[in-house]
Amino acid sequence: MRLILTCLGFAIATLAVLAGISSAGSGRFASKEELGAALFHDKNLSKNRSQACATCHMPEIGFADRHDTHKGNAVSLGDDAKSFGDRNAPSVTYAAFSPPFHRDAKGAYIGGQFWDGRAKGLEEQAAGPPLNPIEMGMSDDKAVAARITENPDYLTAFRTFFGNQALKDSNGIFRAATEAIAAFERTRAFAPFDSRYDRYLRGEEKFTEQEELGRTLFFSTQFTSCNLCHDLKGPDGRLETSTFTSHKYFNIGVPANREARRMNGMKPDFVDIGLAANPEVDGDPLQRGKFKVPNLRNVAITAPYMHNGVFSDLRTVILFYNKYNSKKKSRQINPETGERWADPEVPANLATKELETGPGLDDKRVDALVAFLKTLTDKRYEGLLK
Ligand code: HEC
Ligand code: HEC
Repeated sequence: MRLILTCLGFAIATLAVLAGISSAGSGRFASKEELGAALFHDKNLSKNRSQACATCHMPEIGFADRHDTHKGNAVSLGDDAKSFGDRNAPSVTYAAFSPPFHRDAKGAYIGGQFWDGRAKGLEEQAAGPPLNPIEMGMSDDKAVAARITENPDYLTAFRTFFGNQALKDSNGIFRAATEAIAAFERTRAFAPFDSRYDRYLRGEEKFTEQEELGRTLFFSTQFTSCNLCHDLKGPDGRLETSTFTSHKYFNIGVPANREARRMNGMKPDFVDIGLAANPEVDGDPLQRGKFKVPNLRNVAITAPYMHNGVFSDLRTVILFYNKYNSKKKSRQINPETGERWADPEVPANLATKELETGPGLDDKRVDALVAFLKTLTDKRYEGLLK
């Protein structure tokens, strides 16, 4: 409840700021982006009017979910107040940089939205949650369109930005809404590139010794494998535009999240096959267990981690990678459970070559990598860093 009230208050206070646009102009919404911001925060687009996109992607915490409101649980609660999902809600910051889902010249899958890329882009993605029975729970696009047309401000805005044509049927209204939401998600509010790392690149700030060690390790191909998958450069080949992902898919051996499965009631033997479940991939056994390499911007403030939120702490993620290349016994223990790392949920298709690149890391280096990842936090979230 607290979460929902916060959302509403925040929505009203920050619409204009987030969209970076003033409210002047015709109607309540000055632009498609501003309309998208309103829709993103509108709980009326869910069956019980209790949930908006912003409920699970809260602007004040990096457009991710606040999982500590349902403690011990890494997945999101639906509009019906009882269903839990099976995947961790990713931050929507910098999501717009994922290219449309496609295959590269070598046949590797790249891009798309969701952990398995099943939505080609942001528009297609935005059409998912309203109709997902365990999320916003609307029955069909007709039901969504009916909620949209309840609001005369929306009607004016849809007419202005999409023309009368878009209002002709429920499908047109639904599609226009997803376009407006996607336009909002492409605004600067989602990708300000103003983290400490960005300021460091611009020569405005200096790194501490520890952050610099972390950066050196992350950038090295000799001491870590990180940048084999979390690219150092953006699509234009510059460091400044990097979101630290190749947008490719790998199985890095993440264990199942048993706790989440207890919450959502899925059978304990259910296996999330990741990319292989993407309809375009059509069950290809070679893609089982692969998930999209997440971008690492704002990662320090968007716990829990991995597609199923199985790790709560960023340091655990680094130690998890280290289990592949450290012979030390202590490195075979998951600090969050005190037990040996659980086996991969999908043992096939592990990115063994990449994961085994580099030596084991001592505590100093593990901490330095965490310190570096913290520098990727957008300025307005720096207050959330522990
Ligand atoms: C009940 C919580 C919930 C609601 C409500 C919700 N989402 Fe999500 N969102 C998630 C989860 C969980 C995932 C990951 C699902 C997956 O990968 O299969 C996700 C994934 C995404 C992604 C993909 C990001 C990426 O990097 O792949 C975007 C973008 C997104 N949501 C935007 C939205 C929008 C827009 C809305 C409203 C129309 C919305 N979400 C509503 C929980 C939610
Ligand atoms: C073989 C490719 C690969 C390599 C090498 C790699 N990663 Fe990843 N990384 C991934 C994939 C794929 C995921 C998501 C896996 C999942 O959820 O199943 C991920 C997830 C993460 C996450 C969690 C992000 C989130 O939002 O949940 C962090 C943090 C991270 N990696 C940091 C690193 C660091 C630091 C290194 C180097 C020590 C590294 N990665 C090496 C592919 C890789």
